Amino acid sequence: MDDARAASYSFVPSAVAPPIVDRAEGCTLHLADGRTVIDAGAGAIAVNIGHGRAEVADAVAEATRRVSYVLPPWVTEERIALVELLRERWLPEGLSRVGFTSGGSESVDSAVRLALAHHATAGRPERRKVIGREASYHGLTMTALAVGGHRGRRAAFEHVLADHPKMPIADAEGLEKVLWDEGPETVAAVIAEPVIGATAGAVVPPDGWWADVRALCDQHGVLLIADEVMTGFGRTGRRFGVDHWDVVPDLLVGGKGLSGGYAPLGGVFATDEVVAPIAASGEVVMFFTYSAHSASCAAGVAALTILDDEDLVTASATKGADLLRRLDGVAAHPHVAEVRGLGLMIGVELQQADGRPYPASEGMGARVVAEAMARGAWVYPAGDGNVPDALLIGPPFTITDAEMDEVVRIVGEAISAICGD
Ligand SMILES: Cc1ncc(COP(=O)(O)O)c(C=O)c1O
Repeated sequence: MDDARAASYSFVPSAVAPPIVDRAEGCTLHLADGRTVIDAGAGAIAVNIGHGRAEVADAVAEATRRVSYVLPPWVTEERIALVELLRERWLPEGLSRVGFTSGGSESVDSAVRLALAHHATAGRPERRKVIGREASYHGLTMTALAVGGHRGRRAAFEHVLADHPKMPIADAEGLEKVLWDEGPETVAAVIAEPVIGATAGAVVPPDGWWADVRALCDQHGVLLIADEVMTGFGRTGRRFGVDHWDVVPDLLVGGKGLSGGYAPLGGVFATDEVVAPIAASGEVVMFFTYSAHSASCAAGVAALTILDDEDLVTASATKGADLLRRLDGVAAHPHVAEVRGLGLMIGVELQQADGRPYPASEGMGARVVAEAMARGAWVYPAGDGNVPDALLIGPPFTITDAEMDEVVRIVGEAISAICGD
């Protein structure tokens, strides 16, 4: 394939042709021009089990051959198998209601709709605000953008986004203030990522923050939504990010690692208490046409089975700690403000030599990502607002020691090449 044909793929025309990927195996992307790239971003932090797993492909093929499509509320073997597996082996105690979508944004959107429907059907329609964090990303539907705080991605739509309040990222007193300012009786839910991903590059909250947020929600009758689209299914070294702080949310949202990138799949998981008033009211919870697609559910069962059989959540914890240590040299780079993270969700925050962030207009994060790609490693770009430039290193949990060393070397060299030594 020539570059002109590849460039014609882009929806918004671009002078730079996107990479052409011929095939992928393990942590390696094989490009059409013969080069190989280590997928240290697991695509968009999705391919937790690594590429090229034949058992997942076989499960998807088998599901497609048996029942290509039926209405989402109807039952297929793949759908019920995934519900059972999640209830039995994955979800925090109490999250027994399970629904599927095609991805993270749809799942966040659905969780917000469920929170609003919960209060409305329980006779509290005035509870309609969802408090998000100042730095947060929850997806691209208009509702997901509105509850999120990603300034860059919101910018073109600010004038039409619903007005949902924002709280400071790591200070529970800040949430309490927002609750009182807004009037707690008008608040339906609080939504947060356990570890902030795309907006800030793996920012871990202080110990106690999640417990304080849970307590404030309980005190004020507000639902707590954990957005585990990026952190879920082992990415932070535990099944879910909230497990690090022993907090159980009322609603938990998943995507990405749920199918390991093998098929479009997201999930909304809720307690019986959240669903009870909706069920009692008889209100219909509408589905998307491709919700709970059988082939995607088959991919989910196969991906989660691999995570369990190969003890890959533990691998994410131990390799993550190891990779953080290997990144000590990168952390000492004058153009690196901090290296941080949990499990295999690691952020590298860039800075100018004087310690200030680069002006966002310089696009340094994107330039370092492009340089690393040219040198043979894909890392995921992150950053916005106060943290304009960060890289997310979030490889498959199957990454080898040699691959980790290579990623560390390439990231360090790419930062030096773009930012200077
Ligand atoms: C925390 C979080 N929530 C939601 C989303 C949106 O998910 P999707 O891109 O699958 O719609 C993302 C995507 O990066 C995410 O990181």
